[in-house]
Amino acid sequence: MKDFIEWSDTLSVGVEEIDEQHKGLAAMVNEMSVAIDGGWGKEARDQILVRLIEYTRVHFATEESLMSISSYAGLKIHKKQHENLIEIVKSYVKKYDEDPNASSYDLLFFLKKWLVDHIMKDDKAMGDYLVKVGTAKTKSKARKSLLGWLGSLFGFGNRG
Ligand SMILES: [Fe+2]
Ligand SMILES: [Fe+2]
Repeated sequence: MKDFIEWSDTLSVGVEEIDEQHKGLAAMVNEMSVAIDGGWGKEARDQILVRLIEYTRVHFATEESLMSISSYAGLKIHKKQHENLIEIVKSYVKKYDEDPNASSYDLLFFLKKWLVDHIMKDDKAMGDYLVKVGTAKTKSKARKSLLGWLGSLFGFGNRG
């Protein structure tokens, strides 16, 4: 079966740990798509959604810290985009709490579009900069062990 979000190298932003996290996010959205298509019920959907929100927070924190240590001029605007996404997803959670029969597909298609658009535009601009200034390559011990810990916590991605 075709993945709901198909990963391809055109989505790569040139920074390995960010690409790995993006693959993880896409995998979670795909898992949610399988759960929804398979009629696993809203509990399964909500469980995946909770994990997705947590992993998204970790991912955003990773990007924001990389932008911050590299003095990226677009940090503030980029961070705002991340905050907006969290707010919108939280509003879906609220909607599903209030109306358990609300369509899951709205959220699914929203997530796919947001993720792909954000990666292609904002994350790629950030990635180009991180590669240019060399942050993409420098990996301190602390960064490595943090990423390793996150990887084991969520079960994929973040291989330092
Ligand atoms: Fe981002
Ligand atoms: Fe990202």
